[in-house]
Amino acid sequence: MQRTLVLAKPDAVQRGLIGEIIGRFERKGLKVVGLRLLSVPRPMAEEHYAVHAGKHFYDGLVEFITSGPVAAFALEGPDAIAVVRKMVGKTMPNEAEPGTIRGDLGISGLRNLIHASDAPETAEAELKLWFGEDVLVDYEREIDAWIVAEEPARA
Ligand code: CMP
Repeated sequence: MQRTLVLAKPDAVQRGLIGEIIGRFERKGLKVVGLRLLSVPRPMAEEHYAVHAGKHFYDGLVEFITSGPVAAFALEGPDAIAVVRKMVGKTMPNEAEPGTIRGDLGISGLRNLIHASDAPETAEAELKLWFGEDVLVDYEREIDAWIVAEEPARA
């Protein structure tokens, strides 16, 4: 089982799309193991986007993510990182496929609604940054038996 971080960015919160976004992941079968609404302190934004420091869009990115409240979700499921990235769609909403969150709900590159961790190492670091240690919730769902199939052992 894998965990990943999703952020509904300030544009998603302002547009009232938190429910639409988290609902898509819930309907997919992903389990919500962390939830948080916060105004992002600038140092936290800079740490989150440290990998983009120095790029031409970095300042705008930090400005944007600190411009209003952000909703952070920790999601759990089989292959959660790749599954969530697929559901989010390409970075630029005008290039994202219909059926993806950015493809269905966004239209401009700078207003792309959502962030999702891109690899196990980044997911681990981002979950720690946004939720801290030991905050995520371990629990069972009865319905998981209908969502998560055991892979048959190979001969
Ligand atoms: P996100 O998934 O939050 O991770 C990095 C962000 O940088 C990305 O979404 C975009 O919002 C932004 N980004 C990536 N490439 C560009 C670009 N060429 N111009 C502007 N913003 C970009």
